[in-house]
Amino acid sequence: MTTRSSLLPMTGALLVGLAAFAYAKTNDASDTTSVGALPQQAVTIDPLSFAVIGENGTFRENSITSFFNPTNTSPPFFQVFDPAFLDILGPHATIRSVASNPDFAFAHEAPIWNPETDDFFFASNDGGALGFSDLNHNSKYGKINLKEVTKAIRDANASTSAVNVTVTELDLPETIQMTNGGTGPYHGNLLLITSGRGPRPPSIALVNPNPPHNVTVLLDNFFGRQFNSLNDIKVHPTNGKFFFTDVTYGFLNQFRPAPLMPSQVYRFDPTAGSVRVVADGMLRPNGIAFTGDGNTAYVKVTKDLAFIFGVVGGVFGNNQTNPATIYQFDVDLTTHTFVNRRVFAYTDTGIPDGIQVDTKGNVYSGCGDGVQVWNSQGILIGKFFLGTTSSNMAFAGKGRLVINAETNIFLAEIAAEGLDLASFT
Ligand SMILES: *[C@@H]1O[C@H](CO)[C@@H](O)[C@H](O)[C@H]1NC(C)=O
Ligand SMILES: *[C@@H]1O[C@H](CO)[C@@H](O)[C@H](O)[C@H]1NC(C)=O
Ligand SMILES: *[C@@H]1O[C@H](CO)[C@@H](O)[C@H](O)[C@H]1NC(C)=O
Ligand SMILES: *[C@@H]1O[C@H](CO)[C@@H](O)[C@H](O)[C@H]1NC(C)=O
Ligand SMILES: *[C@@H]1O[C@H](CO)[C@@H](O)[C@H](O)[C@H]1NC(C)=O
Repeated sequence: MTTRSSLLPMTGALLVGLAAFAYAKTNDASDTTSVGALPQQAVTIDPLSFAVIGENGTFRENSITSFFNPTNTSPPFFQVFDPAFLDILGPHATIRSVASNPDFAFAHEAPIWNPETDDFFFASNDGGALGFSDLNHNSKYGKINLKEVTKAIRDANASTSAVNVTVTELDLPETIQMTNGGTGPYHGNLLLITSGRGPRPPSIALVNPNPPHNVTVLLDNFFGRQFNSLNDIKVHPTNGKFFFTDVTYGFLNQFRPAPLMPSQVYRFDPTAGSVRVVADGMLRPNGIAFTGDGNTAYVKVTKDLAFIFGVVGGVFGNNQTNPATIYQFDVDLTTHTFVNRRVFAYTDTGIPDGIQVDTKGNVYSGCGDGVQVWNSQGILIGKFFLGTTSSNMAFAGKGRLVINAETNIFLAEIAAEGLDLASFT
């Protein structure tokens, strides 16, 4: 998923002189927190400034190979479309790479923060570019320590420049194959969801975050049939049930057999063991998240696999007419089915992947150019612009958003706070 794309600057005077709008808009508000307090890595872009590009302007033709970066700013930076994003950032926000390995997509999915140790966990790319995993090779699961990150930043006296802490790979039992999602901690354990590999089944498993990293598999079949390749999981905040997505990427990535079931969304009751389908009819359901009250669910449906591979024009082609859409549902609290499906957001770049929700109801998703943020009404208010694909991210307590970006992990130190996923039991 390392989509390296050109940063397409939009031409024309219409894009110049936009930087003052945030001041203008926040200064007249009663909210004083953002007055005169634009973080140094923030670039404000008034949507009205690009509402018309004009006949001689430069338009984007491809949502993967070209980014929307009208100010032609070097990533990483904060792209601010609405003053509300400044409240998420706070006045002293920074964003930087904190771990990198240009030769290995070590930070793809399954981001989990363990508050007990301040470790941040992640899975390498399973079956895609620079993941070095396939039918014959498992993906890796690793971690960095955020205390070490804090120390490295302090030691370097680095205001915004990158640091590079050590990545530690976990030695996990063979039952964990091609990790693609995760949440928690759940009763102190990492809750992982795996895609399986070859004949080995996809599964949901608890993993001890501390050595010896022993594993308890909780589910690996639907009444005797294997899932296709399980993708992502969240625990419902009020009823404690597990909700997860199953999709055909493992087959399309040539490490799983032909699908035996449709791509759909399931619910698992970890106490009773019962499994049921709660939503279907989506092309490729992917990331999943709930609002804090549990009444709303978001499910990502991604477009062509080429977007996932970052292989434009590759084996599976690249068709921008497929959805790159986050759907919103109501969760029927009796049956747990997802009802009243509607479009929440369609991303302008790449595909939306993992999703997180903050305490104010803003929705964050990894996309082709970084992490994009929509308010609860579905308006894109800003981006953590990386200039490369992010598949997923997780909050690490108040004010820290840790972003997986394949060959890098970025830390954004901001004002917002994510939902406390560890309390969802
Ligand atoms: C676009 O370019 C053409 C050719 O140079 C010119 O005649 C036309 O006026 C331009 N249009 C605008 C809106 O600037
Ligand atoms: C960061 O350190 C790792 C080794 O821990 C190394 O492989 C990698 O190249 C380093 N990244 C950069 C950008 O130097
Ligand atoms: C950081 O600042 C301290 C004190 O000013 C100095 O002793 C140290 O050498 C600096 N470190 C780096 C990496 O610049
Ligand atoms: C790991 O092993 C310990 C000791 O047997 C046990 O208490 C714990 O539940 C195990 N954790 C998992 C996730 O299997
Ligand atoms: C893209 O998908 C649409 C809808 O399925 C289809 O009509 C169109 O032919 C596809 N285009 C290409 C280039 O495959």
